[in-house]
Amino acid sequence: MKILGIETSCDETSIGVVDGDGMVLANVIATQVDIHARYGGIVPEVASRQHVLDIRPVCEQAVADAGIDWGDIDAVAATHGPGLAGSLIVGLNFSKGLAATLGVPLVGVNHMDGHVYGAWARTEDRDLEPFQELVGEQPIMCLVVSGGHTELVLLEGHGKFRLLGETRDDAAGEAFDKAARVLGLGYPGGPEIQRVAENAPEAEPLPRAWMRGTDEFSFSGLKTAVLNRARKLGIYPPDPSGEPVDTDVVAGIAKAFQDSVVDVLVTKTIAAAKRENCAGIVLVGGVAANGPLRETLVKKSPLPVSIPPFKLCTDNGAMIAMSGLVNYRNGRRDDFDLDVIPSLRIGTSTLV
Ligand code: KG4
Ligand code: ZN
Repeated sequence: MKILGIETSCDETSIGVVDGDGMVLANVIATQVDIHARYGGIVPEVASRQHVLDIRPVCEQAVADAGIDWGDIDAVAATHGPGLAGSLIVGLNFSKGLAATLGVPLVGVNHMDGHVYGAWARTEDRDLEPFQELVGEQPIMCLVVSGGHTELVLLEGHGKFRLLGETRDDAAGEAFDKAARVLGLGYPGGPEIQRVAENAPEAEPLPRAWMRGTDEFSFSGLKTAVLNRARKLGIYPPDPSGEPVDTDVVAGIAKAFQDSVVDVLVTKTIAAAKRENCAGIVLVGGVAANGPLRETLVKKSPLPVSIPPFKLCTDNGAMIAMSGLVNYRNGRRDDFDLDVIPSLRIGTSTLV
């Protein structure tokens, strides 16, 4: 069994191949991050045009990397939501053309399911945590934290998700990106905040929104707190004369911001996992690349934790192939009238 997964929901054109054991045979990622960086965020029209340019060479590279022939592909999986409509359309239409040409089934994948299943993909140097083999016997808590989403999801069986809570306003990654912009750091903000926070002096903590009694999150108040502190300490708005800002002040705010996000995400995820009697915790999505978030969760959790390597955390085709494999085994086959659904919710596009 070889399944090819196509991901174009945002600003990465990525195609991966996994086999029937969930082993990643290829995972080619063409990122547009430099193209959008000059605008300080993703420009949808630019993103979809770039996908058109990149998708064919990325696909050819993925098949070459996997060391397979086109005829070895048994199914084509593609993200059909959530994401940017214009970006999703490029990958979904390409997948239909490929599936039709090869005469193999088309399998639609929910991008958020895909993020979760990135944690079930195996690589040469990474096997699954033992608790991940218990899907269906005991629930598994999944924290999905990306640029567009912050969700606590219970995986109750393969392809069977229960959304427990999500953010009421900004996603965690979005908060990182917005805080970075206030601090005059580059885009994407997450890696920048992490980098400058490493050498930060002690700074006064920023508030935490606990949303007690719920599994929900909120990060917009923290974003405002960053803005207010930046104003108070004189680094925002930026000096029009181009006077360099005090890097210690920037680092201090960045660290206080990161500490607040990490504390809330880790504390609430562990509490929910214990309450739901979970076998373990899975951390996925672009923000799962954050070092302090990974380290704190592993250190504080009494349950085993699985976090995929960086390339399987941010948007990638291998996670879509892996989720496609699960959908395929659950019997999912799509017709060529499958449409993009930009606001698709987690777990709503799988057949169980
Ligand atoms: O999952 P992803 O690649 O794309 C979406 O589906 O959104 O996530 C991108 C997000 C961005 O907001 C970026 O700032 C954040 O992930 N991110 C990080 C780090 N690396 C990427 N956030 C915190 N720390 C990082 N090291
Ligand atoms: Zn994503």
